[in-house]
Amino acid sequence: MTEYPKELKLKDGTVITARPLEPPDIEALYGFFLDIPRYDLLMYKDDVSTRESIESWFTNPSYKKLVQLVSVKDTEIVAKGTLHNEGLYWSDAAEIKLIVHPDYRGLGLGSQMFHMLLNEGIKKNFSKIIVRYTVGNISFSKILSHYGFEPETVLNSYIKDENTGVAKDLIIASYNLENWARRFEFYYTMFSK
Ligand SMILES: CC(C)(COP(=O)(O)OP(=O)(O)OC[C@H]1O[C@@H](n2cnc3c(N)ncnc32)[C@H](O)[C@@H]1OP(=O)(O)O)[C@@H](O)C(=O)NCCC(=O)NCCS
Repeated sequence: MTEYPKELKLKDGTVITARPLEPPDIEALYGFFLDIPRYDLLMYKDDVSTRESIESWFTNPSYKKLVQLVSVKDTEIVAKGTLHNEGLYWSDAAEIKLIVHPDYRGLGLGSQMFHMLLNEGIKKNFSKIIVRYTVGNISFSKILSHYGFEPETVLNSYIKDENTGVAKDLIIASYNLENWARRFEFYYTMFSK
């Protein structure tokens, strides 16, 4: 990952640094997750509001994340994105998980981080990228629509909102990176003529 750290400019002019997550980030990462509404954390199988589970990401060898990126403003983590293939049955597929701090949403940070994670997927030669999200996640759906992700499965009433008690459907969508890479190749040939 030689292209990191990378400067990201947000819509309000704020400049953020994106870079791989490192062991000294434990404290900042713990603080980051404390600020995230619990509903947004349902996609994590661990309880990330505890310091122990965050520490285990760094110390437990079974947590093999392929790429873990954070976006940092001064010393504060303001977004975290992961490309991983834990628990996926297909060796050519990886999943993207992404969370932006509520104070930094709507400024283009999620879109830029998603793009970087997709690129990591291409570099690692995955042919399929999977995402999971709940129905009604408008901003994430908008990000996905730019790339052409298609919902493949809907798990009905799969996630319960602790505040309202209402169960929501979980969507699993995927994208074929081979097509994406081919499309980029095509544009590259068009524009280099
Ligand atoms: C989903 C998430 C990562 C988006 O991050 P973000 O930084 O707000 O995203 P962006 O600012 O890049 O916005 C993405 C798109 O949504 C739109 N958008 C952002 N906030 C919106 C809102 N409140 N209402 C409607 N559209 C909105 C943006 O205009 C943009 O659309 P465009 O690409 O057509 O311009 C963030 O909301 C989040 O962390 N949610 C909780 C965790 C989650 O759901 N992760 C996804 C599943 S892994």
